[in-house]
Amino acid sequence: MSPPNSLLLILITLLPQLLSLHIEASIEEPDNVQTLNTNPNTKKFNPKIPPLKKTLSSSKRFEGSSDFVNLKYHMGPVLSSPINIYLIWYGNWKQPQKLLIKDFLLSISTTNRRASPAPSVSDWWRTVSLYTDQTGANISRTVSIAGEYNDLRYSHGTHLTRLSVQQVIATAVKTKPFPVDHRNGIYLILTADDVTMEDFCRAVCGFHYFTFPSMVGYTLPYAWVGNSGKQCPEVCAYPFAVPGYMGGGGPGKLSPPNGDVGVDGMVSVIGHELAELSSNPLVNAWYAGEDPTAPTEIGDLCEGLYGTGGGGGYIGEVMKDKEGRTFNVNGRRGRRFLLQWIWSPVLKACAGPNALD
Ligand SMILES: *[C@@H]1O[C@H](CO)[C@@H](O)[C@H](O)[C@H]1NC(C)=O
Repeated sequence: MSPPNSLLLILITLLPQLLSLHIEASIEEPDNVQTLNTNPNTKKFNPKIPPLKKTLSSSKRFEGSSDFVNLKYHMGPVLSSPINIYLIWYGNWKQPQKLLIKDFLLSISTTNRRASPAPSVSDWWRTVSLYTDQTGANISRTVSIAGEYNDLRYSHGTHLTRLSVQQVIATAVKTKPFPVDHRNGIYLILTADDVTMEDFCRAVCGFHYFTFPSMVGYTLPYAWVGNSGKQCPEVCAYPFAVPGYMGGGGPGKLSPPNGDVGVDGMVSVIGHELAELSSNPLVNAWYAGEDPTAPTEIGDLCEGLYGTGGGGGYIGEVMKDKEGRTFNVNGRRGRRFLLQWIWSPVLKACAGPNALD
């Protein structure tokens, strides 16, 4: 290894520390904070960073509790039987990226025998499971990956639309053994970082809906989430990238828990979409607002909020490890993730398992 290379290596190795020092400078942590955290290798902090600059969602944010949030149940179904996720990897995905996302999905279920330490991903899903349908059935806490399909050849091009994404699902369900699972199936289309999507980065980081029988042959709930790593990380992989308008000297971006800005950012968006898909799969169950074409759902209400004391530029109290990587929940195989909070129908506030009270 030549000297310039080793210098670079040292810089890269130091980068998380430099960033975390930078961030720490802006935190005032009260001395009397109660802590759930007994691991000496992790530290709590509540970073103040440039706010999420996203016109659509900023108008939809209700940080913390609010009496003005009028979340209503509209009589439709929720996903109350065990949830089978069918994954569609669209485009060129690397194995470690797929493993990271699958580890997150497999951490949701309570049936996973080796439980992760609290606060865990499955504790986080508990808030989602508090939503019920008109029969009183809760959203299931059993979530598994039932099938995978690799669309390596970009079957519908490198630019997708809200409609063509349904053709991607149609292609996948026509490819046996990828089944049509009416009862328990949801379809999750994940696009690689070189795939563009209608409204991606401008208005959405992910969305969920259901397929039309005329396009797919069936009505199937689905969600799409894209890897924003190369396109707009400051919008969709926030807070691992932050808007550029605040220059040097100000607070900075956070270090992602698994070292992949785009994919670590996707994990929180996938969590957001799964929570909403489960509580509003046919867009006639749980949402706020009078307009079903622009519903404000249980994830939208808490976007940008990851811990206690969030709001006004703070993301809330989260944890960081020795290397300065930020997270708020534990998953399987020692994984850590940063997940946005979800609106609780019981507390009538945003909630998460890393809450201090
Ligand atoms: C189901 O939801 C209700 C209402 O939110 C909650 O009180 C109850 O604890 C939930 N049950 C389970 C098994 O999660």
